[in-house]
Amino acid sequence: MPKAAAPRVILGIGGGIAAYKSAELARLLVQQGYEVQPVMTRAATEFLTPLTLSSLTHKRVITSLFAPAGQPEATLASAIEHIGVALENDLLLVAPATADLLAQFAQGLAGDFLTTMHLAFPGPVLLAPAMNTNMWNHPATQANVALLRARGYHFVGPAAGELACGMEGPGRLAEPAAIAAAASALLDKKHDLAGETILLTAGPTQEPIDPVRVITNRSSGKMGYALAQRAQARGARVILVSGPVALSPPANVELLRVETAAQMYDAVMSRLAEVSVFIGVAAVADYRPARPAAEKLKKSVSALAIELEPTTDILAAVGRDKGHRLVVGFAAETGNLLGEAERKREAKNCDLVVANLVGAPGAGFEGDENEVVLIRRGQQPEPVARAAKTVIADRILDAVADLRARQA
Ligand code: CTP
Repeated sequence: MPKAAAPRVILGIGGGIAAYKSAELARLLVQQGYEVQPVMTRAATEFLTPLTLSSLTHKRVITSLFAPAGQPEATLASAIEHIGVALENDLLLVAPATADLLAQFAQGLAGDFLTTMHLAFPGPVLLAPAMNTNMWNHPATQANVALLRARGYHFVGPAAGELACGMEGPGRLAEPAAIAAAASALLDKKHDLAGETILLTAGPTQEPIDPVRVITNRSSGKMGYALAQRAQARGARVILVSGPVALSPPANVELLRVETAAQMYDAVMSRLAEVSVFIGVAAVADYRPARPAAEKLKKSVSALAIELEPTTDILAAVGRDKGHRLVVGFAAETGNLLGEAERKREAKNCDLVVANLVGAPGAGFEGDENEVVLIRRGQQPEPVARAAKTVIADRILDAVADLRARQA
């Protein structure tokens, strides 16, 4: 196995007096072997110079969304840099997280580099708030913190004590060592899939009726792509076998594009020997036209019957020939969720089935969110509350990592 690259942290710095402590935090993170990309808000540069941070991290410090016009970096590349930075890093750590930044994150505002990149960042976010006690206790700030916590954001601090403004109470930035430890805890977890080769199927399949028409379904591929992206970020080598979807491939993932269930089956089987974890997310067509027409069908008949034949169940085939592999399936149901999912888990010899009710508005096939139940042999079903598909992906991968650790 190639040596895993150092975990990469974006260190976002808000404009507060505690910004001076971020220099020490940057030093500690670098000392722990992390690559640190500093991003400062404009106000932060009033408290700490970018030069200090670039000296400590050996990185160009990002301070604005656009390079000044006329400068060589004022290219499209710099205009979309926030996306690159978001996708290349493993953790977004913001210290100090000011009241203003918490509000902007909670509202999804995108007024500068840090807040815009935050929206594009798919991984875990760790916030170290620092502000005056009254600002921290304000119902608006507390509501923002509650909302962010509910969305899965992690917090470290604030500590209580004497503040720069002279007040006593909660609002002090947590000590840099405590922030670095909280960052490490999230980053170490993040490389828990190093050494695994994970093959995922994703998206729908298309089964030809004639050269221009297909039988397909509403799968968007979003859940499978989110899992592929998160698995890669957590250190796995990822092979993604994808039906036709309108999504850009995740970075650093090997993408095999297919159309039909038969092509998906062949692609999976051709790579199975390398695989330690198989995750069948695709909504594979269960039936295909038995005899697709060679020419486009004409509208000449008053009724048209198309004979369908079953496709091969890819997940069941992988489950039959399981070996030491961990096998994960999905069960999209419109009723009797737990019963049907457990039946599928047993029938297809899966270690884990991710069950979700389809038909709930906003969740399931096309939405950006999902709500699932994790079903394992001999364990209580574990509900995972409704959240963004990237967050759900991490919870599924937590279960995968845990099951792999038990197998070892
Ligand atoms: N699956 C597969 N190959 C197929 C059909 C399904 O690999 N030909 C996998 C899916 O990727 C998913 C799981 O099987 O992980 C369950 O798919 P689902 O369509 O919910 O179940 P079916 O077995 O098709 O059962 P039913 O249609 O009766 O609900």
